[in-house]
Amino acid sequence: MTRDPSAAIRINAEDIRRRKGGVPIVCLTAYTYPVARLLDPHVDLLLVGDSVAMVLHGHATTLGASLDMMIAHGQAVMRGSAKACVVVDMPAGSYEASPAQAVTAARRIVEETGCQAVKLEGGVDMAVQIAAIVAAGIPVMGHIGLQPQSVEKEGGYRIKGRTEENIAALFRDAEAVEKAGAFSVVIEGTVEAVAAKLSHHIPIPTIGIGASADCDGQILVIDDMVGLTVDRVPKFVKEYADLRSVVADAAARYAAEVRSRAFPGSDHVFTTAPGKDEI
Ligand code: KIV
Repeated sequence: MTRDPSAAIRINAEDIRRRKGGVPIVCLTAYTYPVARLLDPHVDLLLVGDSVAMVLHGHATTLGASLDMMIAHGQAVMRGSAKACVVVDMPAGSYEASPAQAVTAARRIVEETGCQAVKLEGGVDMAVQIAAIVAAGIPVMGHIGLQPQSVEKEGGYRIKGRTEENIAALFRDAEAVEKAGAFSVVIEGTVEAVAAKLSHHIPIPTIGIGASADCDGQILVIDDMVGLTVDRVPKFVKEYADLRSVVADAAARYAAEVRSRAFPGSDHVFTTAPGKDEI
């Protein structure tokens, strides 16, 4: 098991569960050590989402995530954070086959990263997996509504809660996830009024993304939130910065200075003068 020197002060899954109906829970995804360090003071929960496969590795969907990938990024985020509750996504193919498969993968994630909890997608269909992981002593965050791991099966990113039949299914999913023992649940890509009703209906915190301000917390993908996303930015994203322009501008100025030999300048080279050779 990875040693976590911050365990005493870290927010854990039970702390998050107790936040139902209280001050909104601030969540962001994180995949790397430096970003985790920057976000940790500001958030309650860092999710090492399987969106890492798209955001950092350039895959077309989250189906490109593997267990090894999630564990490597989970370890980096744990090293870079001290306070946030760190949740690591279970990638597609690591849990759906059986409760035993789900427990084996969840154990590997927790033992090799030291994270506080795992997250998996699914409602009624994954309730036995959630119950088995919780029974093994590992807290689980659910994920209902739009489920990106099902995007190929569904033929695209389809918003949920637009028909009576689907609304009823969402309520069954939310109840199943809660009864299976999840400490919280992400509601993604769901009609605002339906997400709000779901949130008021179940006794565990709901974390919205493309859902409702009435959810108990909100999450965004970090690269979307800081304006680093180079492909299509989803409608539900608010960009709080424009790092695309910052990075492109820095790269253009660097390229010009390298080509004109203005970089490196005298401040960025070493001389024979004593005491001036520190990196
Ligand atoms: O993988 C992810 O980043 C997620 C969040 C968007 C909820 O599941």
